[in-house]
Amino acid sequence: MILILLGPPGAGKGTQAQRLQDKHGLIQLSTGDMLRAAVAAGTEIGLEAKKVMDRGELVSDEIMTGIISDRLDQPDCKNGVILDGFPRTEAQAAALDEMLAAKGLVLDAVIEMKTDDDILVERITGRYTCATCGTGYHDIFLKPAVEGVCDKCGGTEFKRRSDDNADTVVSRLKAYHDQTAPLLPYYQGKGVLKQVDGMADIDVVTQEMEAALQSI
Ligand code: AP5
Ligand code: MG
Ligand code: ZN
Repeated sequence: MILILLGPPGAGKGTQAQRLQDKHGLIQLSTGDMLRAAVAAGTEIGLEAKKVMDRGELVSDEIMTGIISDRLDQPDCKNGVILDGFPRTEAQAAALDEMLAAKGLVLDAVIEMKTDDDILVERITGRYTCATCGTGYHDIFLKPAVEGVCDKCGGTEFKRRSDDNADTVVSRLKAYHDQTAPLLPYYQGKGVLKQVDGMADIDVVTQEMEAALQSI
């Protein structure tokens, strides 16, 4: 199964992709996470990407398409993937169509996570993740059962993203509306677009995602 999660920064793509990965054995392909790993490793792509990400702008289509194409060829992707954060431009969507056709793969569904812009800053500025296993949390909306201890791995170190500040979020939202939202009618036209209410509680969104998957 090939699934795309589409939504603005803070919509809950990563949160829901982690849950779908745990439950269905699909692999979460988060282009944001891949770029952050490249930044941490200090690769050439990482050094270039860091400047762009900290401005809240988009990394080039060429780099992103190459990263995803290589990743889809890895054996762990055979059972299916959740694309979290890709495609993000019309050029990336066209490149994805070509790449899937060349690899003999089919896009099953695009799930739009519908959210109001005004809650996204609160979601993003409260976000943190486990430094050991990457599980995501929120200061208000998703706390670990024991404060300061990761539910999943017991880790006690957490980190926050350098682009998770109110200023950068404004640019990221603009990039979403200008460059990514036009993909919604594109996928609607292909008959693969489904929608969930991204404003609902996290568990309710998960139920809606499951229902959307059942309908495929
Ligand atoms: P990326 O990492 O993809 O960031 P983003 O799209 O801005 O999305 P986020 O990760 O911020 O949000 P999310 O939807 O995953 O929300 P989450 O589940 O964490 O990209 C970062 C940068 O990399 C881009 O700006 C760009 O520069 C570059 N990039 C990446 N891909 C690219 C591409 N294809 N092309 C070009 N450039 C690219 O949830 C947020 C918080 O809210 C969490 O704390 C969570 O616990 C909480 N939460 C989630 N759901 C709910 C809910 N229903 N109710 C209450 N709280 C909730
Ligand atoms: Mg994310
Ligand atoms: Zn952890």
